[in-house]
Amino acid sequence: MDYIIEMLNITKEFPGIIANDDITLQLKRGEIHALLGENGAGKSTLMSVLFGMYKPEKGHIRKNGKEVEIKDPNDANDLGIGMVHQHFKLVQNFTVLQNIILGVEETKNGVLQLKDARKRVIELSERYGLMVEPDAVIEDITVGMQQRVEILKMLFRENEVLIFDEPTAVLTPQEIDELMKIMKNLAKEGKSILFITHKLNEIKEVANRCSVLRKGKYIGTVDVADTTKEQMSEMMVGHKVNFCVEKTEAKPKDVVLEVNNLSVNRKGQSKKSVHNVSFQVRQGEIVCIAGIDGNGQSELVYGITGLMPISDGSVHLNGKDITKESVRKRNIDGIAHIPEDRHKDGLVLDYTLSENLVLKNYFMKGFQNHGFINFAKVNDYSNKLIEQYDVRSGQGNKTIVRSMSGGNQQKAIIAREISLNPELLIAVQPTRGLDVGAIEYIHKQLVAQRDSGKAVLMVSLELDEVMNVSDRILVMYEGEIVADLKPEETNIKELGLYMAGSKRDEVK
Ligand SMILES: Nc1ncnc2c1ncn2[C@@H]1O[C@H](COP(=O)(O)OP(=O)(O)OP(=O)(O)O)[C@@H](O)[C@H]1O
Ligand SMILES: [Mg+2]
Repeated sequence: MDYIIEMLNITKEFPGIIANDDITLQLKRGEIHALLGENGAGKSTLMSVLFGMYKPEKGHIRKNGKEVEIKDPNDANDLGIGMVHQHFKLVQNFTVLQNIILGVEETKNGVLQLKDARKRVIELSERYGLMVEPDAVIEDITVGMQQRVEILKMLFRENEVLIFDEPTAVLTPQEIDELMKIMKNLAKEGKSILFITHKLNEIKEVANRCSVLRKGKYIGTVDVADTTKEQMSEMMVGHKVNFCVEKTEAKPKDVVLEVNNLSVNRKGQSKKSVHNVSFQVRQGEIVCIAGIDGNGQSELVYGITGLMPISDGSVHLNGKDITKESVRKRNIDGIAHIPEDRHKDGLVLDYTLSENLVLKNYFMKGFQNHGFINFAKVNDYSNKLIEQYDVRSGQGNKTIVRSMSGGNQQKAIIAREISLNPELLIAVQPTRGLDVGAIEYIHKQLVAQRDSGKAVLMVSLELDEVMNVSDRILVMYEGEIVADLKPEETNIKELGLYMAGSKRDEVK
């Protein structure tokens, strides 16, 4: 028998939407099987069915040819199925070790046997190159390490079917390389892997086969080696996708954002996260901050948007000193912000889509009626954005945002921020977790924003995006700007040298 897992004719409905419509997926033993589909296509839902989190209305699942019933994640675990979720599910104030053993703790006479568990965790982490600190608390460690904890959790349980739901969306390019190696090793050892990603390069690199979903339906399965990236993306969206951003030369005008000698200290850290940084962004240009994650990009944006206090320097918007202004005042003055962490800073997850779309302007005149919110107007406004940005969900503007697919949550934030038509749009990793069609659309919107004479400041970890979209690139290294470059005068290799700190210019 070739197949370790077969999901046959699976149908799963949510209010207002058929998330999985008669989907069949067969996983071979020892293969890496990619699952590709637009935002909201039903990938996470299908994997959650396999992991016992949702009960499908129709269809069945076989393991090694035998029909099985998976009522909850414990059943899945007993069958050797583990999952790393799109949004991790770790206990924030537990340690790494406690999280890994949670639910499968061994006791002797009622006493927790931590010593053996610790030994095994260390063994596993060495064997698979998954570096973790067993006693660190989850909320203090990087996203990359949190993910390694999730992977160790599966290995600790000796799972043989491993589901990775968009593991690379939250990782830096260096961490992605590492994960690709780890996945290949796991497959070599006989594990069978289901791998969700929007990045066709990653599929090309590690996957043996790829199944494509579109709007809840199964489109087909291909051998990755015989299929081009263009063919796969066409299967996914139903038409050809343009990978290159089309734009004319920038014609920068007046200065919109001026940052002078800005320093930011993250609480509890002795070293400055941002050190004496100065730069300008003008009308009609897209300036991109490039750098390896953790070199002060996040803190720089927090300082400009007011989300974190600055320790020195000033920020001017259209000539006005906004250094001491509140976050809301800065928004009203014309700053929009697509934040790095969509759950923490971007959305109120238990509000409706409509409410989330007006978070930044519900208090404005157009939405107010004698001190009450005019919901008719709010709904009209949000319906327009939903259509324009193709934000997909089960129940339209009434959908609770928590239930939406990851990519569609991101699209909602982008719709809200761009539609404020800000003087300065700050976009941090704007296309993280988006499918190729949505990425193309968002890039076009950033360029349109620029062409209408606005200033755009983008932060991205992806060099392709940096090179494609920006008019000017500032490279950050250890809290400082070490280069100010034009994309047409540099290349990915040179950028890499600046980002690694092995090259620096005198930047004023
Ligand atoms: N718990 C839920 N309640 C209601 N609707 C849901 C729920 N989970 C998913 N959906 C809906 O089902 C559809 C498929 O969502 P799913 O999360 O499976 O998409 P996805 O392919 O993983 O997308 P993405 O690439 O954006 O993560 C979406 O329209 C979503 O709004
Ligand atoms: Mg998903």
